[in-house]
Amino acid sequence: TTNHLRHVESMASLPSGAGKISHLNAVILGEALASEENDFVFPSDAFSHQALIPSPHKYLEMYKRSIEDPAGFWSGIASSQFYWKQKWGDQVCSENLDVRKGDIKIEWFKGGITNICYNCLDRNIDAGLADKIALYWESNEPGFDAHLTYSQLLHRVCQLANYLKSIGVRKGDAVIVYLPMLMELPITMLACARIGAVHSVVFAGFSSESLAQRIVDCKPKVVITCNAVRRGPKTIHLKDIVDAALVESAKNGISIDVCLTYENQSALKRESTKWQEGRDVWWEDVVPKYPTTCDVEWVDAEDPLFLLYTSGSTGKPKGVLHTTGGYMVYTATTFKYAFDYKESDVYWCTADCGWITGHSYVTYGPMLNGATVVVYEGAPNYPDSGRCWDIVDKYKVTIFYTAPTLVRSLMRDGDEASCISNLVYTLKSPYVTRYSRKSLRVLGSVGEPINPSAWRWFFNLVGGSRCPISDTWWQTETGGFMITPLPGAWPQKPGSATFPFFGVQPVIVDEKGTEIDGECSGYLCVKGSWPGAFRTLYGDHERYETTYFRPFPGYYFTGDGCSRDKDGYHWLTGRVDDVINVSGHRIGTAEVESALVSHPQCAEAAVVGVEHEVKGQGIYAFVTLVEGVPYSEELRKSLILIVRNQIGAFAAPDKIHWAPGLPKTRSGKIMRRILRKIASRQLDELGDISTLAEPGVVDQLIALADS
Ligand code: PRX
Repeated sequence: TTNHLRHVESMASLPSGAGKISHLNAVILGEALASEENDFVFPSDAFSHQALIPSPHKYLEMYKRSIEDPAGFWSGIASSQFYWKQKWGDQVCSENLDVRKGDIKIEWFKGGITNICYNCLDRNIDAGLADKIALYWESNEPGFDAHLTYSQLLHRVCQLANYLKSIGVRKGDAVIVYLPMLMELPITMLACARIGAVHSVVFAGFSSESLAQRIVDCKPKVVITCNAVRRGPKTIHLKDIVDAALVESAKNGISIDVCLTYENQSALKRESTKWQEGRDVWWEDVVPKYPTTCDVEWVDAEDPLFLLYTSGSTGKPKGVLHTTGGYMVYTATTFKYAFDYKESDVYWCTADCGWITGHSYVTYGPMLNGATVVVYEGAPNYPDSGRCWDIVDKYKVTIFYTAPTLVRSLMRDGDEASCISNLVYTLKSPYVTRYSRKSLRVLGSVGEPINPSAWRWFFNLVGGSRCPISDTWWQTETGGFMITPLPGAWPQKPGSATFPFFGVQPVIVDEKGTEIDGECSGYLCVKGSWPGAFRTLYGDHERYETTYFRPFPGYYFTGDGCSRDKDGYHWLTGRVDDVINVSGHRIGTAEVESALVSHPQCAEAAVVGVEHEVKGQGIYAFVTLVEGVPYSEELRKSLILIVRNQIGAFAAPDKIHWAPGLPKTRSGKIMRRILRKIASRQLDELGDISTLAEPGVVDQLIALADS
């Protein structure tokens, strides 16, 4: 409790009325922290003493500065910690975030000339990190691994960059990357960045149709893939998926001249790989022949760095576009503070580079800080549920960043969530306690709200009650962390993402768009811009404005619900739009519905999310069949298969609910609110159904619920 006192003291000693930051004042001045609330989990003295942000005091001082003078705050960091070939113009930031005042525009460091690959590699090498390990790669099969130092990584990146240039890839050209977690994935991202090409990584769990859709949208010069990958006991033939996607995209007028294919020998030999002469090229045959140095293409801070497709509330995925300078400064700074990064850390993020987490916090954020990063190819429970901790011990991982869904699945495999005492945990979790995990010092969580019982298991057992958990809330669109604990600074509350990062002003609004303060809940928006914000949706600035800036004019709308408690802590409550979050993967209900209705026997479909013990949310589909078609197990399977084929296995519905009809208003709108209640069997909470065109439909659906 000395800690406890110290916090209270430091809070009490802050000047009252700390500016405009009223919700934080609640924390500083309120009595909540003075009471013995067991909600709070305090960082240890030892941790706080060594932390970059050791107290709420320090946080507040920096936060205030970042809000009162964003240009000064961010340009100070940008100029002291990064290399710029040429400094930006007069304005650090120029923006219009209000649709009522014209087109939405966000620019940071415009006119500044830099290169993010140079900042990740050359700059760190010049600063003495040439022989530091940049990447540890761990294969799916225990016992197989590899590593690269910063200078070796630079050589590999340059060879690929030179090869890409030799086949005509130029600044501004798109490159589609469909690779699993091999070292070649970050190498490819960095090589594209080095020559100013715009990478678009497609998660290697997406189907050929999804891949084709992305190829057609961004028209890449080249597609980069590998022949196959092992995930757990399975071999997945990625090249076959790419082949099918290329046939599909050719039908839509986009033909690809070069498909660069890495031979992932541990999964499949080249002799067994299907091949199209003239188009397909083995990586190993060409790339190593190129020089290990490659001049950097200097780009403007506002030149595009990458495109990453994400799901929205309509069927068509959105190409989220991030630019170079602001993203660079933001990912590096958030990484450093949210994980309390030190040079001696070994960092492992379990996310795949196919998602934003892998972009910002496997590749760019850590590499910009010169960190040692672990990349794991395989499944986290292969060969058993102890694999993660085996990897932690093997590489002496100090920072471990993962998703709640993984925490919950590992917890289920060897523990009961209700156990509080460490002794009981130890007895019941052999998969965890078999390993030492003593290198760990910071844990992280991302992708969905982490429920307090999973939080406590992660904290008490995995982290031995000594590692703060950074529950980072952010989005593909935000580029980097927005609301996150800074370990060492704040007492934590299990399940709360706590407070905004420097420069971020979260606001909670009601349905009319009015800001609400104090203890409240509503729609989460952000006021003002931050350097890591996305700049547009590729080829569709109109949709960018409509989706994010029109719902609540003057603010960026996140699509999430959020409440703020009496101490000013933020609690994310999930999506408020038609997006579901399955195992931390964002899936648009409309995408799943459009896959289902493409089945010749499906007349109509409505998809909702339901609570799922491990995945967070599961996919629940109501399906109306074409007149006269009988329900059957076979049909159920083929409906699930069509979703797997059109989107990917991770989007397969957990449940198909036969629906003779769907509850609709008289104007024909499906009432999802009612479907959600039926799906979660909260039948006494259906609410008013009298406005339905055919209220009888509801009883029919309930009758068929478990058939
Ligand atoms: O609903 C929020 C949830 O994930 C959404 C963003 O998904 P995506 O763009 O795929 O990025 C995931 C990785 C950043 C958000 O709108 N989400 C993300 N992190 C959290 C979260 N919900 C609660 N707590 C989090 N820490």
